[in-house]
Amino acid sequence: IKTDALTQIAAAADLNALNDIRVQVLGKKGSLTGVLRGMKDLTPEERPKVGSFANTVRDALTEAIEKRHAALSAQALQAKLAQETIDVTLPGRPVHRGTMHVLDQVMEDVESLFMGMGYQVVDGPEVETEHYNFEMLNVPKDHPARDMQDTFYITPDVLLRSQTSPVQARTLEKHDFSQGPLKMISPGRVYRRDTDDATHSHQFHQIEGLVIDKHITMGDLKGTLEVLARHVFGPDRKIRLRPSYFPFTEPSVEVDVSWGSKTGSDDVTSKDNGWVEVLGAGMVHPNVLKSAGVDADVYGGFAFGLGPDRFAMLKYDIEDIRNFYLNDQRFLTQFQQEG
Ligand code: PHE
Repeated sequence: IKTDALTQIAAAADLNALNDIRVQVLGKKGSLTGVLRGMKDLTPEERPKVGSFANTVRDALTEAIEKRHAALSAQALQAKLAQETIDVTLPGRPVHRGTMHVLDQVMEDVESLFMGMGYQVVDGPEVETEHYNFEMLNVPKDHPARDMQDTFYITPDVLLRSQTSPVQARTLEKHDFSQGPLKMISPGRVYRRDTDDATHSHQFHQIEGLVIDKHITMGDLKGTLEVLARHVFGPDRKIRLRPSYFPFTEPSVEVDVSWGSKTGSDDVTSKDNGWVEVLGAGMVHPNVLKSAGVDADVYGGFAFGLGPDRFAMLKYDIEDIRNFYLNDQRFLTQFQQEG
C-alpha cells in the first residue's frame, strides 16, 4: 500500500487528484483504514506489531500528502498570478472634472481684488422688502425711477430685489463709524421683469460696492474703478465717467472702459466703438445716509454697481447672456481653470 500510495501522491497532478488519493488510502473506506480495521481478527501477539507498522505507514503517507499539497498549492497560486497580471503602466481612466462656472470665476476675482483692498463681503436677502430695495435708497413710492426697474412683486411690500443696492442700506444702518470707515462689496443675484433674449435676463448678478468715511471724494471713486477695470480687463485700460442718474447717488455716473484702438464714438453698447459701458456709480445721496441714521454732514462716500454677467460677456466675448443659465457642458467647460 505504502509504495503504491507514495508513487500516486508524487504523480498527483493537482489538488483534486491529491484529495482523491487521500480518500482512497486514508479515508473511511480507504485501504490503510481497512488494514487497521482488520486488526480485530489478528492474534494478540500480532496486533501491536501490525498496529505500529500501520501507524508508521499512515504517518509517512500523511506527511507525503501534506508536502505534495503545499507544493501543488504554491503551483496553483503561481498559475493564478501569471494569469491575472495587472499592467500597472496602463493609463488610468480619466475622472470627469467639473468646471467652476465662469460667472463664479468673475465674481470671485472681483471679490478677492476688493478684499485685498480691505473691503468686507456682505450678503443680503434676495427676497427683499420694498422698504430696503427702494424707500431707503431715496426712491419714494411715487418716484418715476421705480419704472426704470420693472420689479417682481410678491406682495405690495415684498419683492425680489431688483438690485444689490438694498445691501448698502442694510449695512449702513448697522455700521458703527466709531470703529472705522465702511468699505463693503455685496455680490449676488438680482431680478427684473425682462423678456429673456441675448442681452436681457430676468435674473442676473450684481456686485455692489460702498465706501463711506469722512473726506471721500469722486477722485477716490474714479481711482477705485480704474483699479477694477485694469484688474479685470487688462493693465492698459482707461476709464471715463459720463453724467447719469440714479436716485441713490448724486452726482451719478455711467462708467465706460476703453476698448480697442478706435475712439470717439458715443455708442457704448458695443465694444467696437472704442468705449464700452461697464457699470453705474456715484456719490451716495445724503438722503440715503440720513435714512440709515448716518450724519450726512460728517460722512459721505461713493457707491457702484457692476454686472458680473456683463463683465464676463465683454471679457470672454460671450454673445448671449442665456449661455450662463443653460448649463451646456460645451459652453461651461471652455472656462476650465488651470491647476
Ligand atoms: N443699482 C444700480 C442699478 O442697478 C447700480 C448702481 C449701484 C448705481 C450703486 C450707483 C450706485 O442700476
